[in-house]
Amino acid sequence: MAVPQLSQQSASGKSMFFTSDNWAGAHPRICEHLDRVAAGFSPAYGTSDFDNDVARRFSEIFEKEVAVFFVGTGTAANSLSLASIQRPGGAVFCHTEAHVVEDECGAPEFFSGMKMVPVHGPSGRMDIAELRTAMAAFPQDAVHHGRAAAITVTQATEMGTVYSLDEIEAIGQIARDGGVALHMDGARFANALAALDTTPAEMTWRRGVDVLSFGATKNGCWCAEAIVFFNPVFATDMPFIRKRAAQLFSKSRFIAAQFDAYLADDLWLKLAGHANRMADRLRRGLAATSSARLAWETVTNEVFAIVPRVQAEAAIAKGARFYDWPVPAAMKDQVSNTETLIRLVTSFATTEEQVEALLSALK
Ligand SMILES: Cc1ncc(COP(=O)(O)O)c(C=O)c1O
Repeated sequence: MAVPQLSQQSASGKSMFFTSDNWAGAHPRICEHLDRVAAGFSPAYGTSDFDNDVARRFSEIFEKEVAVFFVGTGTAANSLSLASIQRPGGAVFCHTEAHVVEDECGAPEFFSGMKMVPVHGPSGRMDIAELRTAMAAFPQDAVHHGRAAAITVTQATEMGTVYSLDEIEAIGQIARDGGVALHMDGARFANALAALDTTPAEMTWRRGVDVLSFGATKNGCWCAEAIVFFNPVFATDMPFIRKRAAQLFSKSRFIAAQFDAYLADDLWLKLAGHANRMADRLRRGLAATSSARLAWETVTNEVFAIVPRVQAEAAIAKGARFYDWPVPAAMKDQVSNTETLIRLVTSFATTEEQVEALLSALK
């Protein structure tokens, strides 16, 4: 039977997929490992020695005993993380453009029973002063308003930027001062880590993060996300929270297998480093043309550019694929009526040739 396959090439003969990193397939090492693990029998529901060994790898990587729960989507990882730290009447503080509040169909509120409170800040990062002000409106005895219960940061952010280690530390301190938990949405954790050239421990629990959504799907897996608890107190109810949310996979060994290959020989860091370098090449190429300009500085695998609308349309006609992006309110006067803001995302599968093809299509 024929295998359905997305065309690898555009009409111009060049592959130019820059829509999102989840348009890329899966890395061959992940696929080969899935194939190996597919043979034979193994206890179900994540109880096999193999599942446990893979989960233990996370403790080595994070230099700390952690509790790990595999799930199938980033939305599930975020929603169930927040469910595990929920408090009745709780408010969760996130950036205005965070995926948890903009793009998850209310799942975080549905599963956690808490409300999301958006906090402004430039470049996809919550402004620390605004965060303090927002939290002050939800004191612990405000029975009518609700009370502060958690903060969630996205690392890397939805705007291709990252929180610096100092900024994570400052937010961690605010969480501790307020007696609330700190969650990190790491759908692009590896890209942020590669951009900051730091360690998983430094970017998380050493800066006060309690729970992490550790994403791998966007960086070479086909369906693998993990909820990582640095604070065991929050993990207690997770087996039940996950099962009740229909996220306990009976053949969980296939998620474990993806992580096994992903974490082996630093494949995950190599793939993220590659995606970031392809974005660097794109940034340099765009900065060198007169037809486009970078909308803001990014450091990971997402690039935002302002281009004349006709040029964007011409590139699409040549087979380039990317999304338009809403112009942030603060930038309204920087994008004219004849221009558009576009988001370009690179991945482990992006090649130098694809970047060059896009740059020439946008000229
Ligand atoms: C920052 C961020 N968090 C979470 C997710 C959710 O991932 P999923 O689509 O697997 O639910 C995404 C996906 O685009 C994302 O960009």
